[in-house]
Amino acid sequence: FNVPVAKNEPVRTYAPGSGERKSLQAKLAELRSVEVELPMIIAGKEVTTDRRRRIAPPHDHQHTLGYFFEGDSSHVQMAIDAALDAKKAWADMGWQHRAAIFLKAADLLAGPYRDKMNAATMLGQSKNAFQAEIDAACELADFFRYGVKCMTDIYQMQPESSAGIWNYNEYRPLEGFVFALTPFNFTSIAGNLPSAPVMMGNVAVWKPSNTSVYSAAVIMEILQEAGLPEGVINLVYVAGPVAGEVIFSHPDFAGIHFTGSTAVFQNIWKTIGENIYKYKAYPRIVGETGGKDFIFADPTADPQALAVAMLRGAFEYQGQKCSAASRVYVPESIWADVRGRFEKMMGTVKMGPVEDFTNFVNAVIDEKSFDKLAAYIERAKSSKDAQVIWGGKCDKSVGYFIEPTVILAAKADYETMVDELFGPVLTVYVYEDRKLDETLALVDQTSMYALTGAIFSQDRYSIERMTKRLENAAGNFYINDKPTGAVVGQQPFGGARGSGTNDKAGSVFNMLRWTSIRTVKETF
Ligand code: ALA
Repeated sequence: FNVPVAKNEPVRTYAPGSGERKSLQAKLAELRSVEVELPMIIAGKEVTTDRRRRIAPPHDHQHTLGYFFEGDSSHVQMAIDAALDAKKAWADMGWQHRAAIFLKAADLLAGPYRDKMNAATMLGQSKNAFQAEIDAACELADFFRYGVKCMTDIYQMQPESSAGIWNYNEYRPLEGFVFALTPFNFTSIAGNLPSAPVMMGNVAVWKPSNTSVYSAAVIMEILQEAGLPEGVINLVYVAGPVAGEVIFSHPDFAGIHFTGSTAVFQNIWKTIGENIYKYKAYPRIVGETGGKDFIFADPTADPQALAVAMLRGAFEYQGQKCSAASRVYVPESIWADVRGRFEKMMGTVKMGPVEDFTNFVNAVIDEKSFDKLAAYIERAKSSKDAQVIWGGKCDKSVGYFIEPTVILAAKADYETMVDELFGPVLTVYVYEDRKLDETLALVDQTSMYALTGAIFSQDRYSIERMTKRLENAAGNFYINDKPTGAVVGQQPFGGARGSGTNDKAGSVFNMLRWTSIRTVKETF
């Protein structure tokens, strides 16, 4: 099928004084100066309630960006009904027309909506311009364009036929509706989770995180303008347990597309199991969950490349990427050199609100996250097994600011080497060079997660050995690069163990979860 060739959306740099920077700054000022009201979108209609919830920038929590209307279980039921009403027409629509909507949405996002999408992500989720650009603008446009390519690649996957016998696969949507439960940390993931199943002909109920409602509303606006018919995606703002209660007991529940915490996903899986007799079919359970992502260096590692990877991998978007580096293993022989280079760069890192483009680090998402991180840092300050060697200040008076913090752990199983923190805290463990092999084993043994990981070495035998030894420790594995920044179409993303079902977002592997194949054999 000759769909337009999918290419990654070029990243804008927002150079000082550039037109693109001025235009984004103007949009930020506009969004800060008006108070929006964000209704739910059910069956294509705006739905309000009498419960208005305030939206504030995490870096300036006294400022009001607007309000969203919180729904209850009746709105979840309405959303399911709307999805099921829309289902037949959507599933019957030729794939070219579904593709056209998402290709147009990508162009709208990369063009006229780019500033609004980035500004809503920057203000609502405290993400700086450069991090918003690679996420909300580029990665989401990539998900839409590569999603269309994956869909058409799948339709062309057909079995062999033989003389007098014609075999073919029909890629049907699932029976029922799909539930998309989406996180705050990537606007692109939030947009992709309902969209991927919908491209394959499904209908969806979408519940975004309460901390990223602003950007979710902009995604919905773009999809509607691109021509998404009413009821195909229904956006509800409700508490997770309220949504879960209605959705997981519904006979037409056909699958969940999830990104969020391991504990929530495990609970969802259990609930689905308890309700299994109610469903028409086994629901598809697709989730990307926690991570405790590592960097492991051997004595031949390039100290400068390692120091850069530590800084960027751990502190971009305040370490709130599922892929963020949070534990680093460095051999004693190079530690002093690496530390010197790293601290020199850290001295240039600025923290503050997103409106100032020179701030590399902004606020963490909310008070709950702030309090959790501050507690870990305080414990490290007084622990005999740890030492805070960089940062450590926490201040929530204006915004939820946690200084980028580095902890040196004396033990490889110290709590910040093992627990998922989801914030700007990096723990370093310095190992004796002669203990490389046993330390390598610890990387694997001390992690219940397996999302991303990186190794640094300039010795090919060592690279090969570490790659093999860590084969189950990460779904996305990087050699001589930071463990973040997977690009759609280039590094399909996902991990196993406590990190998820490893269905690889942005690839045919993921899209195949949203179709139920009928294989037809006709004999002539
Ligand atoms: N694309 C995101 C990353 O790899 C998830 O950091």
